[in-house]
Amino acid sequence: MSIKMRSNESLVLSTAWREHFEANRNPTEDLPWDDPYRLTPSERRAVERSVQQFQLGEGAQGRRLLARGQAYARATGDIVFPEALTLFIREEQRHSGQLLRFMLLQGIPAVGKHWVDSVFRWVRVLAGLELELRVLVTAEVIAVPYYRALGRATRSALLRSLSDRILEDEAWHLQFQASMLSRLEAHRSRFLRRLIWQAHRWFLAGTCCVVWIEHRSVFTAAGRSFRGLLRDALSEFAGLERAAGLHGAEARQIGLTKRFLPSGAASPERRASQ
Ligand SMILES: [Fe+2]
Ligand SMILES: [Fe+2]
Repeated sequence: MSIKMRSNESLVLSTAWREHFEANRNPTEDLPWDDPYRLTPSERRAVERSVQQFQLGEGAQGRRLLARGQAYARATGDIVFPEALTLFIREEQRHSGQLLRFMLLQGIPAVGKHWVDSVFRWVRVLAGLELELRVLVTAEVIAVPYYRALGRATRSALLRSLSDRILEDEAWHLQFQASMLSRLEAHRSRFLRRLIWQAHRWFLAGTCCVVWIEHRSVFTAAGRSFRGLLRDALSEFAGLERAAGLHGAEARQIGLTKRFLPSGAASPERRASQ
């Protein structure tokens, strides 16, 4: 199936995603910002450097990603995709802003640079849209076990609520990325897709090692092990792979459009009213 022939389907998907991110733009501010709890010295040691790094990573401007998204839109006729992508990037920046607000409340300064963040950005400079998304989605996959651990690494009710709130958004981000990857790899043979997902899995496992070295204090404070991090990341990755439709029979039966419309979990409006 040619890219042009799928452009209508692609437009429907991007429109649904734009609506999802728009609805989730200004979530009800239900986080306990007035929580007076101050981190103990040992809690602070466990999370400070780690939160600084994630706050930096979540705040990326995404200019290059957006330029690639615009090139994709021109090539496919899916003119709504850049708008959905812009809103997705803003949502990540909101996470960064919320982490920064928590840091300021705890007297933790922001940092302007970190080598892991620089390496990630450098790899993405070299990449095309798909590789850039794959690097990005690796960080999204690892964000799930990370925020689970961060929320339980201290006795701060605010940090727990904030981590849980980010986790809700990240679950949607994985669906969004799955829909994108699925569209980008639809023209490939099953064999080649399998090969690429396998290589991606190894990249994820390698990244888990780096994340463990850099953020071990958060995981151990939450009682999590490296084995647990790897298991959770691989499990999220398997979900992503399934959602991206590698196991194609179901994908062909149901069709991309229905599969990836963000209707399976609680919508932002419904969540806000709960
Ligand atoms: Fe995020
Ligand atoms: Fe994300």
